[in-house]
Amino acid sequence: MEFLNVALPKGRLGEKVYAMFEKAGFECPSIKENNRKLIFENEERMVRYFWVKPSDVAIYVERGAADIGVAGKDILLEYEPDIYELLDLNIGKCRMAVAAPKGFKDNKKKTLKVATKFSNIAKDYYTKMGRDIDIIHLNGSIEIAPILGLSDVIVDIVETGTTLKENNLEVIETIVPISARFIANKTSFKFKGEQIEKLVNELSNQIEVEND
Ligand code: PRP
Repeated sequence: MEFLNVALPKGRLGEKVYAMFEKAGFECPSIKENNRKLIFENEERMVRYFWVKPSDVAIYVERGAADIGVAGKDILLEYEPDIYELLDLNIGKCRMAVAAPKGFKDNKKKTLKVATKFSNIAKDYYTKMGRDIDIIHLNGSIEIAPILGLSDVIVDIVETGTTLKENNLEVIETIVPISARFIANKTSFKFKGEQIEKLVNELSNQIEVEND
C-alpha cells in the first residue's frame, strides 16, 4: 500500500479536521508534538499529513501533491479547482455575503464598487443579477474598504458577524452558505480509491447534521 497524502488547513479548522481523521482510524501521533514541523507521517497507517495555508489546500490536491484534503467551499467556488468534492464535513460553517455600511442605499444607475478577496464569486453573483460592478480585489481587511470610500459594498465571509458589527457594517444579501469540504485528486481517487473510500465512510459517520 502507498502512503495517503493529506493536505490539512493550518489553524483551528485543521485541528478539528485532524481530530476527525484520527477518530476515523488515520491517526498520526507525531502531529501532536508541538513544533514548527509541517509534515508528519505514520507508517503503520500509511498516512502522511501536511499543514498548508487553508487557501492553498485545493492547489496541492488539484496537482496531486496531496491525494486528499479539506478546503472551504468559498475556495472551491472561487478557484474551481479540477478535483472531486466528496463530502460536506459540516464544520467551519459561515456564509459568503454582501455587506455595506448601515443604511446603505444602492443607486442602480451607478456602477457598484465591490471590494473583495473573492472576485470570481462576486462577478458571478452580480452577473446573474444583471448589475454592473467594478471589482476592487483586496487580500484582507476587506471591511475597511467601504469605510474609507474605496468601495460601496464588500463581498466577504461572515461567521459570527462580529467583524461587520465592530465596523458599522451589515449584511445586505447572503450569496451562499459555506462549510468545509473533503476533496480528492482525480487520479488518486482511481489508484488509492480503497483508502479514500474507507476514510470517506468513516468520516460520514461522524458528521453531525442538525435540523436547521
Ligand atoms: C474572515 C472574514 C472576516 C471575518 C468574519 O476573515 O474576512 O474578516 O473572518 O468573521 P466574523 O463574522 O466571525 O467576525 P479571516 O479570519 O478568515 O481572515 P482574513 O483576514 O484573511 O480574511
